[in-house]
Amino acid sequence: MGGRVDDIAVELLNFLRNAPDRYYRIPKLAEKFSTRVKFINEALRGLVIWGYKFEFDDTSRIRFVSAPDSIFPHEIGYHLKTIFIGRNIVSHFSLPSTNSLAFALASEGAPEGTLVIAEKQTSGRGRLGRRWHSPPKLGLWATLILRPTLPPSELPGLSIVTATALADTIISKFDLDASVKWPNDCLIDDLKVAGILTELSAELDKANFVAVGIGININHLRKDFPPYLRKKATSLRIETGGRIDRIAFLAEFLLSFEKMYLQFKKKGLKPLLPKIKKRSSLLGRQVKLKMGSKTIIAKAIDIDTSGALLVKRRKETLRVTAGEVTVV
Ligand code: BTN
Repeated sequence: MGGRVDDIAVELLNFLRNAPDRYYRIPKLAEKFSTRVKFINEALRGLVIWGYKFEFDDTSRIRFVSAPDSIFPHEIGYHLKTIFIGRNIVSHFSLPSTNSLAFALASEGAPEGTLVIAEKQTSGRGRLGRRWHSPPKLGLWATLILRPTLPPSELPGLSIVTATALADTIISKFDLDASVKWPNDCLIDDLKVAGILTELSAELDKANFVAVGIGININHLRKDFPPYLRKKATSLRIETGGRIDRIAFLAEFLLSFEKMYLQFKKKGLKPLLPKIKKRSSLLGRQVKLKMGSKTIIAKAIDIDTSGALLVKRRKETLRVTAGEVTVV
């Protein structure tokens, strides 16, 4: 499809899907959209190629049946209730890494809230130089471009804000016991369901932009994970026992993220700390911290207003800003 037919297609689609129980005559639709029957038929053929399903009754009237499980911008847009997060979408079938493309687009001036998303990544990146397993259509692999005006030292806190919004969405939508492992993992029963990779472009005292990469395992079955991940990772489908509507989930997460991000932008992490602490899987537990070549065991006691983890070892309180933490 191209140009005007694309526009008609999306308008027509939204019109039909808003009344899924109603059948419509094609000439009536042409009249409604001030176009010719030929263009309505062409738009419908295009929608079918994209994976939308329609049904005809015995008088050739048509109704909407279902949408494909695809990250088309108009499909995400249909579900979205945010003000600015995800209102500009760059969607690809395959990318090396959504974070890398987001970084390039942000450098060229892409607006705050831009969502870069791919069905699969060929070089998905995790924290600490690890790779992120990103197979086609099973998860959500996406990056948000943000332009907060807070000092750069406060911006790493965005990882924990994002992970907390994600845990909140999982809890409210599926009633699962999701938690956040400082600073960036989202867990269900100690298995990793999602990870966040926050990358910052900044000068000495001013951030240019932040790229918040989000990888969520959604419709994987256990066999879809490579053997080295099977004991560490999980997906929403494994935990709920059913296939998940990725697009509806993404829209809900973006809304919950936007609410927290608006507070973060105004006042930093402080107003969000009670919620962040409530979702933390580490506080009150003995943890093992790997910091460079050093490993220490201590008790996680708090998270401070810059997002650092405070741990207590004997009588000493240490402030941890980076590294790997596991519960002992
Ligand atoms: C981690 O837990 O180590 C962070 C994983 C982050 C993965 C996501 S997937 C989308 C975005 N693009 C990337 O290359 N990485 C992040």
